[in-house]
Amino acid sequence: MKITVAIDGYSSCGKSTLAKQLAAALNYSYVDTGAMYRALTLYFIRNQVDIFHPDQVNNALNNISIEFKINPKTQQQETYLNGENIESEIRINPRVASVVSEVSAISEVRRFLVKQQQQLGKLKGIVMDGRDIGTVVLPDAELKLFVTADPIVRAKRRLDELVEKGQATTIEEVLANLEKRDFIDSNRDDSPLMQASDAIVLDNSNLTKEEQFDWVMKLVNQHIGSSTN
Ligand code: DC
Repeated sequence: MKITVAIDGYSSCGKSTLAKQLAAALNYSYVDTGAMYRALTLYFIRNQVDIFHPDQVNNALNNISIEFKINPKTQQQETYLNGENIESEIRINPRVASVVSEVSAISEVRRFLVKQQQQLGKLKGIVMDGRDIGTVVLPDAELKLFVTADPIVRAKRRLDELVEKGQATTIEEVLANLEKRDFIDSNRDDSPLMQASDAIVLDNSNLTKEEQFDWVMKLVNQHIGSSTN
């Protein structure tokens, strides 16, 4: 019996790490909706799309195709924009991090991506992470998690990731970007980041990745058990 797992939460809470661990352990597919918003944002930056001009936005949406493919060498999922592998660029380009929340607040953009995400979510055996998965994209998901952590802990984790990828930045810059994104994501008019009423809160400030994984696997097994009854 396969279920759908929806994971929402603040920026850099380790949602994607958790989602990937779960998908691998359960042999489920993983859909990283943040990567879709980042890919679309990269297209907007490269093509100088003015987000205040609906015609330019709609025109851009007609020319964007986003796909996920598994890299056969690493077995990791990578994001493609119009056939180009942009996985690394969407993670390290600071322009993407700085404008992705503004781009994600545009209703046309959300309609465009939510439709694709709902299509992917029709299959059972999906772990999807983002900001509006339990509330808007997959409101019928059997298990919904809302992940949170102390902002300083999150900024430190994100800084470590960026340094590992060779990006020069500071904890102050990273924290400011996280707080700005959380604010815009939580306060936009269209499908803001919020906890679904039936979501289970997971504060991982003081949990290792392994402890978090074990905690969530117990929940998943309970849900798989109850879905077969
Ligand atoms: O998960 P992430 O940090 O890669 O997401 C990047 C941005 O995309 C995030 O700041 C807000 C937006 N986003 C969204 O609005 N809705 C989603 N379901 C996923 C991401």
